[in-house]
Amino acid sequence: MEEQIKQIQKKFTDEINEISDLKSLTDLKVKYLGKKGELTIFSKQMATVEPSLRPVIGAKLTETRNLIESSIIEKEKTLQEAKLQKKLESEKIDVTLPSNKTKVGSKHPLNRVIEEIEDLFVSMGYDVVDGPELETDEFCFERLNLPKGHPARDMQDSFYITSEYLLRTQTSAVQARAMLANKDKSPIRIICPGKTYRREDDATHSHQFNQVEGLVIDEDITLAHLKGTLEVFMRKLLGEKTNLRFRPSYFPFTEPSYEVDVSCFKCAGKGCNLCKQTGWIELLGAGMVHPNVLKMNGYNPEKYGGFAFGTGLDRLAMFKYGITDMRYLYRNDIRFLSQFDQMDV
Ligand code: DAH
Repeated sequence: MEEQIKQIQKKFTDEINEISDLKSLTDLKVKYLGKKGELTIFSKQMATVEPSLRPVIGAKLTETRNLIESSIIEKEKTLQEAKLQKKLESEKIDVTLPSNKTKVGSKHPLNRVIEEIEDLFVSMGYDVVDGPELETDEFCFERLNLPKGHPARDMQDSFYITSEYLLRTQTSAVQARAMLANKDKSPIRIICPGKTYRREDDATHSHQFNQVEGLVIDEDITLAHLKGTLEVFMRKLLGEKTNLRFRPSYFPFTEPSYEVDVSCFKCAGKGCNLCKQTGWIELLGAGMVHPNVLKMNGYNPEKYGGFAFGTGLDRLAMFKYGITDMRYLYRNDIRFLSQFDQMDV
């Protein structure tokens, strides 16, 4: 009988060595120690053992049972550790792997132009100022010497919200705000880039567009200051060879007023389809600030004078980058926008 117990122990040792998962280990436990397990059955046969041999056999049985139990506990521990290890390995994060590429947008051509203009004017001592896009009739027109019913209002077809509020049609609206806000009536040097709105929609116009306004108020300001400033402005943006042409024009807020043309940068003034064979492209409105505007906004026209100018940023961007339809600027088409990534101009 002792021999048989030894054999069970040996068989068990062989079998447990083969086991590599927890489920089989549980089965093995049942096989040996369960109610009908091999060792259990053996224990039940003790009654048939000769009494003098019982203590020895009994001790052997207990020893074997203990050995089987502890082997199973040991094995269970090993298997559980291995399982955990495997799980940890499969979940391992490799921090050295290259990351997923995030798509980074590109700077909008309009913002490129605005930033370039801001940099230039700030370097000349100007402040960058903005104003509300939902503007009052007072600031958009009246304080710029365009009283209600003035015929020059017809040039700017507007989106009125009420009879007093409208979407501003020009950044000139910021002029009066800046003059009024400057309480001590000291000199002013500002540019105001921003969105403007008119009831228009074709290849060269959009209901929303962008302008930049410039305003300088000081003593002894002359037309020469205006010309010099616009020359620096346009040459920086469109190339050093750019020439300017001032044509007399009319704006209610300036006197005298001018339309300012730049020499065509495509044909250098020779005449092409871009400049409609004239060699010139109309780009800005400008003039010397009207005394009425100074007076209305708290400046003494006897002491102060000034110049102002305004231009369309969309048109500037179109010329600068060769964009043929203004509406591309507002369509958010990634194929269009991403082209400017590669351009460092
Ligand atoms: N605000 C004018 C427009 O939108 C442009 C303009 C002309 C602005 C003359 C000025 C200026 O400041 O002096 O057509």
